[in-house]
Amino acid sequence: MTNPSPDPLLALFNVNTFYGQAQVHFDLSITVARGHIVCLLGGNASGKSTTMKIILGLVKPRSGEVTFDGASLIGLSTPQIVRRGIASVPEARRLFADMSVRENILMGAFVRNDREAVALDLDRMLTLFPKLGQRLSQRAGSLSGGEQQMVAMARALMSRPRMIVMDEPTMGLSPLYVDRVLDLIRSINQVGVSVFMVEQNASLALEIAHEAYVLQTGRIVLSGPARALKDDPRVRDAYLGGSEAA
Ligand SMILES: Nc1ncnc2c1ncn2[C@@H]1O[C@H](COP(=O)(O)OP(=O)(O)OP(=O)(O)O)[C@@H](O)[C@H]1O
Ligand SMILES: [Mg+2]
Repeated sequence: MTNPSPDPLLALFNVNTFYGQAQVHFDLSITVARGHIVCLLGGNASGKSTTMKIILGLVKPRSGEVTFDGASLIGLSTPQIVRRGIASVPEARRLFADMSVRENILMGAFVRNDREAVALDLDRMLTLFPKLGQRLSQRAGSLSGGEQQMVAMARALMSRPRMIVMDEPTMGLSPLYVDRVLDLIRSINQVGVSVFMVEQNASLALEIAHEAYVLQTGRIVLSGPARALKDDPRVRDAYLGGSEAA
């Protein structure tokens, strides 16, 4: 298992989560070091999205601790957590289909009231995602899946987060867009934003991640530097097109 970083940006410690009687996390501990990309791998229903929801305050753990920059997030509302510096790109992107691309991106700035800086940040987003420039007035629902993913990422960055959490950012995208989205995650990370992402596509995720954790029915069964996990036969077999699926 990975040695926990001494001063992580995000830490989950011994988190136990239940939906009613059903336990979905068993002593879950995960750390994200400052400036790193950390990936959570795991099969269907292993508890990945629930981990995102815990971080965002959408689901409350029954026990355990979640800290961001040394301070507990337990009991905070989602907007309070966003103000602390965490932004999310949720599963299936959740854009407002009938609103324009511009309106969707600006939604991400809802916690800010520095209007002029928000306008400058919108320009910055168009430098990072040049394709969106011609589409600002278009209905978000009319964009391709890859373009919608870019809008969701731009929207997340508009809150000026220190960390982005992403649930399966490459799901449903064509191979070309998968590469593009992974490049963008790298660029976002290179400007200083830490990344915690859930992915089922382990081989791609391990290409860009610094560390990774493997979740199996609510328990971390493997963790370590992404490079080491890529060569681990247990990961290869389960997630990298080896003999049996997870
Ligand atoms: N709101 C809920 N109420 C009850 N059970 C839930 C709820 N949300 C999730 N679950 C259950 O908790 C378990 C973990 O779900 P979760 O969505 O975290 O898994 P996941 O790893 O993201 O799966 P997938 O790969 O399919 O996205 C599943 O068995 C799921 O059915
Ligand atoms: Mg999920």
